[in-house]
Amino acid sequence: MTGPIWLGPRRAAALAERFGTPFYAYSARTLRARCRSLARAFPGAAVRYAMKANANPAVLDLVRREGMGVDTVSPWEVRLAREVGFRKRDIVYSGSMPSDDDLAAVHREGVTVNLDALSSLHRYGKRFPGARVSLRLNLEIGGGHHPHVITAGPDSKFGLSADDLPEARAICATHGLQIVGLHQHIGSGIFEASLFLDALDALLACLGDFPALEFVDVGGGFGVPYRDDERPVDLDAWGKAVTARFDAAVASYGRPLTLVLEPGRYVVCEAGLLVARVTTLKRTRDRVFVGTDSGMHHLIRPALYQSWHPVATWPRRDVKPERCFVVGPICESGDVLAEDRLMPVPEEGDLVVVGNAGAYGFAMASHYNLRALPAEVMVDGDEWTLIRRRERYRDVIPRRDLP
Ligand code: LLP
Repeated sequence: MTGPIWLGPRRAAALAERFGTPFYAYSARTLRARCRSLARAFPGAAVRYAMKANANPAVLDLVRREGMGVDTVSPWEVRLAREVGFRKRDIVYSGSMPSDDDLAAVHREGVTVNLDALSSLHRYGKRFPGARVSLRLNLEIGGGHHPHVITAGPDSKFGLSADDLPEARAICATHGLQIVGLHQHIGSGIFEASLFLDALDALLACLGDFPALEFVDVGGGFGVPYRDDERPVDLDAWGKAVTARFDAAVASYGRPLTLVLEPGRYVVCEAGLLVARVTTLKRTRDRVFVGTDSGMHHLIRPALYQSWHPVATWPRRDVKPERCFVVGPICESGDVLAEDRLMPVPEEGDLVVVGNAGAYGFAMASHYNLRALPAEVMVDGDEWTLIRRRERYRDVIPRRDLP
């Protein structure tokens, strides 16, 4: 099977039999293909996979073998990246509101550190005079699929504004911090190359004020189609346009610079599926509820952003399609995986497969209602590997936590 629901009824049933439900399944082939599309579209760039999208070590290892680095946001992300084998120089840290402990931890790891507040620069400089830093800027051009994921603009908590820059430079000078990079990430789920390019132009216009740069990091954010009416971005065209502008800016800068990208969703979204089982069919006066053993605790995107994910039920039932609400076992009315979806009503025991779940799926899962995190499986052609087992009671509630 191809498309977002790449697991057909027979294989889905075999995996469900083997590992139980619910579980996430990732296609190694799709992951590799996305890594290679990025390498092709942005030749010469350093691609740092944003591991917040999906930090399963097997996913990270695959990405590493494809020649990518990682973008991290927390000391534990850095630690895991190191454990998986990423080299220090291929790891960039772009944390938000870092504590002193965070700053000390990432400094100790020796990775590239992006800072985006005057306070962070002060605290970092005081503790680590002479260190190398990169500045994350907010040049007021932002975008994304939902207000929660727009990460630049006047109301955003991210980035240093253009007005902050003289003071940022002064703080760096006081502590001898070397500014070796400029960074921005304008948001997530962007389809318009023009928005990204406008933001890039704004960033490149700042280069002249920073004479000792080694790289320019333009973040991630490439959109991926979820709905039938959304088209994939033309990554090659996007890459050509970015590279042309970047090369021109480097020529006038007069020193070589590396272009850095931090895509997360683009790499993993379409590779991932969430597979659940129908536990309870329930008809109310106005609705058909397809109750499953997974829900907002495993895939919060529909509840949090009203995100639309493709859904299929296996086996195919030859019954009249009805408008269904695919929901989970969590005690909230917002616990939905798919809302008001015209589909053949499945039977209890059937499988529900949710597509485009590889990015920000497992990564945002929780123990809400004391439910276990699901298993994760890597599918590579005809082979499959359990890459994280389903949690058990004692994983969630260790004995030492008991009074
Ligand atoms: N770089 C930085 C500094 C970021 O904050 C992010 C994402 C990325 C790169 C990767 O962005 P991507 O290529 O994945 O769009 N949970 C939301 C998405 C939040 C994105 C947060 N930052 C969702 O499920 O849509």
